[in-house]
Amino acid sequence: MEAPPGGVDDMTRLSYLHEPGVLQNLATRYELNEIYTYTGSILIAVNPFQRLPHLYDTHMMEQYKGADFGELSPHVFAIADVAYREMINEGKNNSILVSGESGAGKTETTKMLMRYLAHLGGRSGVEGRTVEQQVLESNPVLEAFGNAKTVRNNNSSRFGKFVEIQFDKTGRISGAAIRTYLLERSRVCQINTPERNYHCFYFLCAAPHEDTQRYKLADARSFHYLNQSSCIEVEGINDAEEYLATRRAMDIVGINEEEQEAIFRVVAAVLHIGNINFAKGKEVDSSVIQDDNSRFHLNTASELLECDCNNLEKALITREIVTPEEIITRTLDPESALASRDALAKTIYSRLFDWIVEKINVSIGQDPNSKQLIGVLDIYGFESFKINSFEQLCINYTNEKLQQHFNQHVFKMEQEEYTREEINWSYIEFVDNQDVLDLIEKVLISSYFSYYDRSHKMQGSYDVTSKAK
Ligand SMILES: Nc1ncnc2c1ncn2[C@@H]1O[C@H](COP(=O)(O)OP(=O)(O)O)[C@@H](O)[C@H]1O
Ligand SMILES: [Mg+2]
Repeated sequence: MEAPPGGVDDMTRLSYLHEPGVLQNLATRYELNEIYTYTGSILIAVNPFQRLPHLYDTHMMEQYKGADFGELSPHVFAIADVAYREMINEGKNNSILVSGESGAGKTETTKMLMRYLAHLGGRSGVEGRTVEQQVLESNPVLEAFGNAKTVRNNNSSRFGKFVEIQFDKTGRISGAAIRTYLLERSRVCQINTPERNYHCFYFLCAAPHEDTQRYKLADARSFHYLNQSSCIEVEGINDAEEYLATRRAMDIVGINEEEQEAIFRVVAAVLHIGNINFAKGKEVDSSVIQDDNSRFHLNTASELLECDCNNLEKALITREIVTPEEIITRTLDPESALASRDALAKTIYSRLFDWIVEKINVSIGQDPNSKQLIGVLDIYGFESFKINSFEQLCINYTNEKLQQHFNQHVFKMEQEEYTREEINWSYIEFVDNQDVLDLIEKVLISSYFSYYDRSHKMQGSYDVTSKAK
């Protein structure tokens, strides 16, 4: 049987279910602006790279509400609807897993899922900050601090996120918990053209004059952590507007004015820390603050962090080694001082990120009585750059792990169904990635962590970060 000219909306209806057939079908549908296709109960989305507002408006949401799965065209709303109905009717908790390589559209899809769930479980016509509004507005806040422009995606998530949306007995959203995983720390102090650092740095540099003045900020190009890449502006992102939008979103999720002030103080301090340079000191393997310019940034950073500038200086140019007998203070050569500067910046930034997530969680609040929930998982997708670091290993390993879960779940489910319906089946062939997982888990990770443990025990000077916080 020939495939129909417009393709099929469920791949299980293809006569030949092989890779060329699947790709051909997706391409045919994409030409017709049909970005969604089912494979049984799984939804495949192809990134349209253009806004398709008609696909996601309230009218669409109403159409999918309660419709039988497969009755309407494939859509992300249909997936969310099944999850919600099953939860209501069968009291089943559900998770929706969004996977795909970097730039595939996972985060956008997650936002649509959340918007639809908020539509189903929201209170219409209620004024002020509702739980569902807070859940939705947590996205722009997290993206400001955890997303960045990469080679593949102008708004790439640099952390993993699992949002648990809790519902009460009547099916209304009653709470939420956001869990984030492994923010990419290296980006804070190292980027290459055409990538950018985290959005919030550029937003803040483009803030109204009174704000930038308060944090003694100049043009983004004057900061080492930003000007290592020639990319400062991104088409389609207005940093000045985004600064104000981030502030508004923070208001909604319950981060008050004073806390916002403190958050941006820390963001500015990280930029100033990056501009502190070192020169060789008089003694061997020692260093001093390079010049007046560096001293200005050191002083500003310590003012912003509300810590003593002499202590900050000492923390950067010396290292404390804790032995069972005593604490030995050793001076650092300029190269090691730079490394300790960057380590401080990374630690401060990742703790700031965790603090913001925690703050949002406290503010939205969890519903202790909730027995029903829907989880949505959005992680950083598989990536492979010209130069890959430990962080790509972690990201790609996570993706392999998810793939393994997916394989097991899908194939197990299929085979159980065959058995139930007493259909004769032979074992379904699929590419099992267990070997890859074994390699990473048994060899690389265990050796890395034993190294990591050892090197961290040696570097007692990391303690300063908790004081600076
Ligand atoms: N459904 C969609 N509609 C319109 N644009 C989309 C859609 N999905 C993705 N995009 C575009 O692609 C970009 C990358 O998508 P994103 O969800 O950030 O990818 P991922 O999270 O998989 O890395 C988005 O910034 C957006 O411009
Ligand atoms: Mg993403």
